[in-house]
Amino acid sequence: MEPVKGFSKLTKEEKVAWVIRTFFKDNSDAATLIKRYWNDDDALQQLHDEFIENTITNYYLPFGIAPNFLINDKLYAIPMAIEESSVVAAASKAAKFWYDRGGFKAEVISTTKIGHVHFLYEGNSEKIKDFFAEVKPKLIAATNTITANMNKRGGGISDIELVDKTAVMSNYYQLHCSFETLDAMGANFINSCLEQFAKTFKEEAQLFDAFSAREKNIEIVMSILSNYVPDCIVRAEVSCPVAELNEDKGVRAEEFADKFVKAVEIAQVEPYRAVTHNKGIMNGIDAVVLATGNDFRAIEAGVHAYASRNGNYSSLTHASVEDGIFKFWIELPLALGTVGGLTNLHPLVKLAMEMLEKPSAKDLMKIVAVAGLAQNFAALRSLTTTGIQKGHMKMHLMNILNQLGATSEEKITLVNHYEGKTVVHSDVVETFKELRTK
Ligand code: MEV
Repeated sequence: MEPVKGFSKLTKEEKVAWVIRTFFKDNSDAATLIKRYWNDDDALQQLHDEFIENTITNYYLPFGIAPNFLINDKLYAIPMAIEESSVVAAASKAAKFWYDRGGFKAEVISTTKIGHVHFLYEGNSEKIKDFFAEVKPKLIAATNTITANMNKRGGGISDIELVDKTAVMSNYYQLHCSFETLDAMGANFINSCLEQFAKTFKEEAQLFDAFSAREKNIEIVMSILSNYVPDCIVRAEVSCPVAELNEDKGVRAEEFADKFVKAVEIAQVEPYRAVTHNKGIMNGIDAVVLATGNDFRAIEAGVHAYASRNGNYSSLTHASVEDGIFKFWIELPLALGTVGGLTNLHPLVKLAMEMLEKPSAKDLMKIVAVAGLAQNFAALRSLTTTGIQKGHMKMHLMNILNQLGATSEEKITLVNHYEGKTVVHSDVVETFKELRTK
């Protein structure tokens, strides 16, 4: 393949033609496939084309619903966008299980977002402190036009601190800035404020008389928000008397509770398990984050950093049995928005928000945390009783049958055939072939 020049300037048709020429030897089947995913509604297609650069087609994910989530006594049907079979089914099952036992309780503990101006200053550390004390009000004043609307609504810049990081890197200092961005995720707001802080900071340093020529020459390295948000925390919880857990899948309630708590403890002390345990939590979290137009990479990065905040990667959930009460809870950082970004643009995101009755960012934090907790409950419930494969078998079978192009009738026959059996890919292919030749 040759490097291609000016690719972004080609039309969409030309880009598709380049892909077909370069990778598919001019085979028109590939072009047909790419175009089959275009939307007939030109305006809708254009909207999607313009989300990113060099769009050639759309990539669908299933958009499903997990109903019956009772959260703080209010009933929700939670939209989820995810490709992994069994996630929505597991969420729905956990929702129903806890609906019958009083539902989920959730609370937002804090909502502070963080950003930094990272800079290098070669000079006397007392003088930079004096300079910072003098310039701080000017930094805030310089962002007045950016912050006016946010301030009006009760948000804005909460604080700016000067942090000396020279112990970890020579001449490295930072402005550690905290923000309240209300219902917005706030990335644009925060980054605009930070870039203005950096500009004013550098300009004012030139005018600070106590600085030597070298000290005036502050080098701004970068200004950017942090996706580590340990002060933007939500907590969700379920609890019930152990006896109300009932006998489940042949396991007595006390035994189930005990084993469940041990499974969580293992994820607290063993990183190999913690990563998979938290991955299961993120199955629920990412699906709702995606369906509601939020940035799941930001959420993932922040959550995993939080899971290792004590120096060991550990479980995001906790469980206990005390005085006959089973309690299971999650605490995690979620910087989410319900206004701005994709939330105003993507028609399905708008639909998801309507279904959630136009939640505030705080409401959405609670809903997402509950989805993560429910997912973890469902996973641990299977893992500590029947094992995970049983529940996965039917979906696994369906995926294989779809790959093989099975008809609805063939699917029914083979689902019946595999009832209670282990699904192995090669075996399904064989059985499918036999069925067809009959
Ligand atoms: C699979 O996507 C998620 C699980 O592995 C989570 C877990 O092990 O807790 C089932």
